[in-house]
Amino acid sequence: MLVEEGMEKLNQPQGSCVVTGVAGFVGSHLAEVLLSLGRRVVGVDNFFSGKPENMETFRSHPNFSFQERCITEPGLLAEIQGVQQDLTHCFHLAAIVSVPYSMENMEETLRVNHAASVVLLEEARSLGLQRFVFAGSAAEYGAETRMPIREVYAHNGSEHRSPYGQAKYWASRAVSTCSMGVALRFFNIYGPRQDPGSPYSGVISRFVESARTGRPLTVHGDGSQSRDFVHVSDCVSAYLAAAGLHPRLTCAQPGCYNIGTGKGTTILELAQIITSLSGSTSRIASVPPRAGDIPHSLANIEAFVTATGWQTEVSLEAGLRGLLES
Ligand code: UD1
Repeated sequence: MLVEEGMEKLNQPQGSCVVTGVAGFVGSHLAEVLLSLGRRVVGVDNFFSGKPENMETFRSHPNFSFQERCITEPGLLAEIQGVQQDLTHCFHLAAIVSVPYSMENMEETLRVNHAASVVLLEEARSLGLQRFVFAGSAAEYGAETRMPIREVYAHNGSEHRSPYGQAKYWASRAVSTCSMGVALRFFNIYGPRQDPGSPYSGVISRFVESARTGRPLTVHGDGSQSRDFVHVSDCVSAYLAAAGLHPRLTCAQPGCYNIGTGKGTTILELAQIITSLSGSTSRIASVPPRAGDIPHSLANIEAFVTATGWQTEVSLEAGLRGLLES
């Protein structure tokens, strides 16, 4: 649908996009859609957490080129522009993505997730790019208890629970106060290619893997904690709207926006939906609560919906069905 609508725009002059973190779960989906809309994409990744196989569907696309580089390298965008002179957009998704890793490696996390992001933003501005879109996070809200969470609830005095949340907050603040910057604060993203491999992987990828393999779905605590799960394809649409590249939606004004569904699901409900949809023989097992878990996380998405006309299109049930069938 998005691709067909985008085809109408193919004859218009188009610039190239940089996607950092292109070999990651979300970055790979974004690159795929940008290419299908006729954009040229320069992908950047250092494979710290990204994987070459995530790029399989577009690695040899004629409009795609890849730079195995680290975002902390100064002058990165200028160098890319030296080769690809028509750069118009930078989608900055590369980051240290593990919250537990950030706890152990605070200085490195602040350097990569905050300092390098600000340098990249400054470079994008001085090179005259039209838009810099940043992957922020619900972790920027720390231990917020007011639900649903509005963008203004994150502020300089917020109590962040990890260097990851702190660095994302500082970077989002810098991006959203720049005249060409949009920071998107994503709640719990799920979808194909999300790695189920670690105890800290997203709960949906873990539960789907367990249901497939007949292992128990382990629910921490009583399962009454809730999250706002948003499908990766809706997140990609949000990126496009933030950049003014969505065929149907209005371009977002610079600023900071929540991206979620506005609907909460408890972890116990989630486990039940997954076992029922999959017809799995897996049981649901209760395990001790996870240290530092927040009870609830729910986005107020009014700001982005009003700014762009964006709506989520994939219900949780449809998204889970898709994952279980893949
Ligand atoms: C996110 C981070 C996590 C970090 C936390 C605090 C991700 C994927 N996770 O967690 O690393 O510590 O923010 O800022 O980015 N759950 C289960 N069973 C499982 C896995 C998870 O019951 O096998 C529960 C968790 O206890 C939690 C909920 O599911 O209550 C969601 O977990 P998760 O997907 O890790 O997301 P966040 O809690 O938002």
